[in-house]
Amino acid sequence: MSENQAELSLRKKEHLTICEDDSAAFKTVATGFDNYTFLHDATTEVIIQNLNLESNFFGSTVAYPFLISCMTGGTDEANNINLQLAEVANSLNIPLGLGSMRYALESRDYDIHLKGIKKSAGISPIMTNIGAAQLCEGRDVSQFQRLIDLVEASVFIIHLNALQELVQKGGEPSFPGLMQSIEFLAKSLSVPIIVKEVGSGISKQAAKRLLEAGVKGIDVAGAGGTSWSAVEIIRNRDDKNNEFWDWGLPTSYCLKTVNELKEFYKFTLISSGGVNTPHDAAVSYALGANFTGSARKVLQALNASGEEGVISFITQFIEYLKKVLFLTGSASLAQLQVGKLIRKEELI
Ligand SMILES: Cc1cc2nc3c(=O)[nH]c(=O)nc-3n(C[C@H](O)[C@H](O)[C@H](O)COP(=O)(O)O)c2cc1C
Repeated sequence: MSENQAELSLRKKEHLTICEDDSAAFKTVATGFDNYTFLHDATTEVIIQNLNLESNFFGSTVAYPFLISCMTGGTDEANNINLQLAEVANSLNIPLGLGSMRYALESRDYDIHLKGIKKSAGISPIMTNIGAAQLCEGRDVSQFQRLIDLVEASVFIIHLNALQELVQKGGEPSFPGLMQSIEFLAKSLSVPIIVKEVGSGISKQAAKRLLEAGVKGIDVAGAGGTSWSAVEIIRNRDDKNNEFWDWGLPTSYCLKTVNELKEFYKFTLISSGGVNTPHDAAVSYALGANFTGSARKVLQALNASGEEGVISFITQFIEYLKKVLFLTGSASLAQLQVGKLIRKEELI
């Protein structure tokens, strides 16, 4: 039986509490970003002050190729977090992902909140979010379109979370007709679709199926950052599923392999899942990512130092990226993506 609004709100609250620190981080699996370093270019002529990181995000020009990953919604506390993140997105002019909007499929109580988030985000693109399980409930497309209209979203995100549903008490690990629904929504909705994972990663094979279905963005959300089976194991207070704490494909592996599909498909590749440091983000771009995104570390920066904390967390990524571009002789992200990365083992 699917959970009611009260259970859903409690679960959301517990997610926020568990992610206040690093208890739900992967233990033995890493993103793989630390395996790489950059090819230093002693002859660089790049003028760092002239570097422009403006990027196209599904038709909108944003200031930086960084987005705030989907987190929360549907409670007063969550709404307050989203409002603050919307203000950050607005002041930096970067895209903002909303957490699962399942609550808004089932109730209109938060419509006013959602409109407020759009207002606070200004012209920054907003992404709606719904889980794979909700796609398989036989809902009418108009219900999903309503979510887009409520926040004037630029993109519709579908999150795939098979592992989380499997481990979650009362989860719904069953997705019959998932790909057919995605294909139908890709043809029917007014905005493009991004499909993301939540920390187990998207393989090249799965990405290919999604792109064939008409998806325009893949956010690999790989392993090495927040483990969503860990979040549910901690919530359940039992270790029955401990073997799955570290399940998933490392983010760098997903990027490297999914990027190979760019030869055949036009899509936006997003790196997330343990993009915790400026180095993680810079390596992501060099591996082919068009955007990077972060969730738990953004939440922690917000908890520690409010909106200013998040702005300074993101600004560090941008400043570091400019220095890497300069030192590798790359005048653009496109140039960083051509032969600027070395696996550390090659240095020996
Ligand atoms: C508190 C919290 C709540 C989240 N809720 C959602 C959600 O509702 N929908 C979703 O697609 N992803 C959700 N995520 C997953 C993130 O978007 C992201 O894919 C995952 O946490 C891995 O990124 P990270 O290592 O930067 O945290 C949530 C993450 C956090 C930290």
